[in-house]
Amino acid sequence: MTAEWTQERIRERAQALGPWFHNLDLKGVRTAPDHFLGDYPNVKWQRFAGAIPADLTGKTVLDIGCNAGFHAMALKRRGAARVLGIDFDEDYLAQARFAAEVEGLQIEFRKLSVYDVGALGERFDLVLFIGVLYHLRHPLLALDLIHEHVARDMLVFQSLQRGSDAMPKLQDDYAFWETAPFDDPGYPKLHFIEHSYAHDPTNWWAPNAACSAAMLRSTGFEITAHPEEEVFVCRRAARPDAAYGAVYPARPR
Ligand SMILES: C[S@@+](CC[C@H](N)C(=O)[O-])C[C@H]1O[C@@H](n2cnc3c(N)ncnc32)[C@H](O)[C@@H]1O
Repeated sequence: MTAEWTQERIRERAQALGPWFHNLDLKGVRTAPDHFLGDYPNVKWQRFAGAIPADLTGKTVLDIGCNAGFHAMALKRRGAARVLGIDFDEDYLAQARFAAEVEGLQIEFRKLSVYDVGALGERFDLVLFIGVLYHLRHPLLALDLIHEHVARDMLVFQSLQRGSDAMPKLQDDYAFWETAPFDDPGYPKLHFIEHSYAHDPTNWWAPNAACSAAMLRSTGFEITAHPEEEVFVCRRAARPDAAYGAVYPARPR
């Protein structure tokens, strides 16, 4: 333990910066010991940590919606040359900066919305976009922007999902009168939440697994691993021609 950050000082500061969503272990001080999902996000991380390279030496990492920095810190510990965490919530960013300082990790945290990633003017070897999509009113726009502006190689994606976990093989097209595929629970479905879900009015959408996968493919991310139901590891690929809509981005001539 450093002379500066005693457990007592960490506890005091953590309390002042609360409430916390990430249950971090800061030199023995837990920031959210009563989290409704248990030891979160560590319990989730353990299910997909093995799908991300153990050695990130020389790599650049962008953690979108970084919250208190659990994943940004985990990836910095894997040797990443540069880790940038962005979030649009100043309170969470203050937690992240404090946690990284206590842990002695050099990570930059910046206030930025996912919709503004183009302002970074930089691509990253590894982009994390976990636990954010379902909080957005415009989820496909966010994925489009990530593909267009910041992803260079690997994307790790996670979303809250509801409905079927099936991944049915679908045709590329159906005739107008063929309506049965839509009744299949495994057909890609994005459930719209008009008011609130889990007492959280910032939950806007709940895709099923096939929908998460289809949105990623449609944006131009090739799925290389699916280590657990809600997590998809992807490689940035060319955007399928069919994904160019009339509004954004403009279809190239
Ligand atoms: C459920 S938490 C997930 C935190 C972390 N990525 C994880 O998986 O543990 C959602 C985070 O996304 C952030 N967020 C929501 N909308 C955002 C936006 N438009 N741009 C950037 N961050 C956003 C929230 O402030 C919050 O920290």
